[in-house]
Amino acid sequence: MNEFNDPVVNPLYGSSTHLVSLSGRRHFLKSSAALLAVLSPIYGSSQGLSKSVWGKSPRFTFETVGLERSSDGIAVPKGYRWSVVAAWGDPINGKFPVISYDVINSPQQQAKQFGMHHDGCAFFPDAGFADRGLWVVNHEYTDDGLLHPDGMKTWSAEKVEKSQAAHGVTVAQIQKQANGQWQVTSSPFARRITAYTPCAISGPAAGNPRMQTAFDPHGKLVLGTLNNCANGVTPWGTYLTCEENINGYFVKTGASTKEEQRIGINAKGFGYRWHEFDARFNADLHPNEANRFGWVVEIDPRNPDKAPIKRTALGRFKHEGAAVTLAKNGRVVVYMGDDQRGEYVYRYVSKHAYQANRPELNQSLLDEGTLYVGQFAEGGKGRWIPLVHGQGGLTPANGFPDQAYILIEARLAADHVGATPLDRSEWVAVHPTAGDVYLSLTNNNQRGKEFPLNAVNPRANNAMGHIVRWKPNQLDAASDQFEWEIFVLAGDPEVQDPNQKGNIKGDVFGSPDGLWFDPRGMLWMQTDISSGALGKGPYARITNNMMFAADPISGEFRRFLIGPNGCEVTGMDFTPDYKTMFINIQHPGESPSERSNPEKPKANSDWPDRTLFSRPRSATIAVWREDGKPVGV
Ligand code: FEO
Ligand code: CA
Ligand code: CA
Ligand code: CA
Repeated sequence: MNEFNDPVVNPLYGSSTHLVSLSGRRHFLKSSAALLAVLSPIYGSSQGLSKSVWGKSPRFTFETVGLERSSDGIAVPKGYRWSVVAAWGDPINGKFPVISYDVINSPQQQAKQFGMHHDGCAFFPDAGFADRGLWVVNHEYTDDGLLHPDGMKTWSAEKVEKSQAAHGVTVAQIQKQANGQWQVTSSPFARRITAYTPCAISGPAAGNPRMQTAFDPHGKLVLGTLNNCANGVTPWGTYLTCEENINGYFVKTGASTKEEQRIGINAKGFGYRWHEFDARFNADLHPNEANRFGWVVEIDPRNPDKAPIKRTALGRFKHEGAAVTLAKNGRVVVYMGDDQRGEYVYRYVSKHAYQANRPELNQSLLDEGTLYVGQFAEGGKGRWIPLVHGQGGLTPANGFPDQAYILIEARLAADHVGATPLDRSEWVAVHPTAGDVYLSLTNNNQRGKEFPLNAVNPRANNAMGHIVRWKPNQLDAASDQFEWEIFVLAGDPEVQDPNQKGNIKGDVFGSPDGLWFDPRGMLWMQTDISSGALGKGPYARITNNMMFAADPISGEFRRFLIGPNGCEVTGMDFTPDYKTMFINIQHPGESPSERSNPEKPKANSDWPDRTLFSRPRSATIAVWREDGKPVGV
């Protein structure tokens, strides 16, 4: 989602003065050699993060895409090509039902088509096929101004149902064609998971009274997944989809509880109006339903009959993504951002180790383990603080009755143990061999006002954001200690203060969001500058969102792609031979109000269909090189 810029809900900040001095993937693992590389980082003895601990720099072989090429289209480097793979409304079996020009499709048809607003994604190659696999993609939210012929002018149960059907996740098969383009092809694995698909609830909060509702007295089965932002991929071949701004779907006209306030459930919502026809979203009537959203959800793309599973051990907050890696002893480590101003970054460590040859033992790795929250101290030291009942003051006397409460209200528990409030933690990426961890902090215009400056959030009115990175002690992701530094303060190298530490090298950028390492050690970064900020103030030279490659050693950022007007570029993956890169273009044509006027749906963009279709559509694109060589390096 763009920048809903929710009011700050962290009670430790806001107008009060406060503390904050802080003392107190994938391509994992199909082969044992790759697994060994993950488990045996290649660091030398250097302790300085900025020294060359990376081995060789990845080599950029493409020329930067000039800003002058910003347009209502896709700009890629010289020698590259692109095409649309699947856009909102395309049939998931490649055939029907086709989206109608006037978007009069029914909710039932939408449930057989790609949803809206593509975000996190992953390609699961088919064994034995070089250029075919399952494409799994999140559909974060809907722009109802585009979804219905007359937008939200009239409102009905059917519109709610269609909006719910356009949310969630798609699993579809895609295949490369002779001309280099990719298409959706029919597959028994194709399925839509929507805002009313039955999902299991597992882990320590499953069945807890706070998870029980009139619809589900056992607290173990919830209809749907919502606001699916970024993602992760496990070593055992499943997909993790992350529920982010779930609060906005619920409306509570009565007084919000402390817990509801902490995640932002109130009388306003975000205007989805689902509660008018689906009582689950009326938080006055069904206050526990919201507790069943805001989780990391595991989907097995090769098992279409298996329900998605909400993994409560990973905590409930506004989950951005879930970056999965392995600790030295094989335990599974998941890094997770909580994207709101002044919220935190979390880590989960499984109790047991991943077993490559015992898949049945991996089923509970995301149910049994410990959730931690990050604390970044002055001087580059940091630590992970466990959110465990009975530890660190998380006791009944302090308002934490049990572990289920701590997981459901992870933000309240994190507040209590002294976590560090960040400038909106978005994606996390783990270097595939060196093990360092990178976190996008997209921006925070309240830093220095509602939030005091601190070492890891050093810039007042941080409109352009930054990227922080850390190195776990002994390069073991299970270590509770780490050393951090600011990798880059985003900005415009032509105008920024030359004395400022962390200056960017290479091309101008701001609002980093999507962050992803390819298995070669190239860092890819995508921007989400809000539609209202593009082309203004510090973004004067930037009119469209973009994607970059970055060298983790030199710190150089080079522009790889510019998206269409009003879009966000978010989500990416490669084929195993690196010859095709998949990228999502979300909400082309978005207006600063973030909901389109159905009478002028193409006011800002007519990408990708141009005159063929009545409105812009989010889409996955494939990018490849004309000379057939690997993309990017
Ligand atoms: Fe869905 Fe924080 O981006
Ligand atoms: Ca967005
Ligand atoms: Ca994002
Ligand atoms: Ca964002």
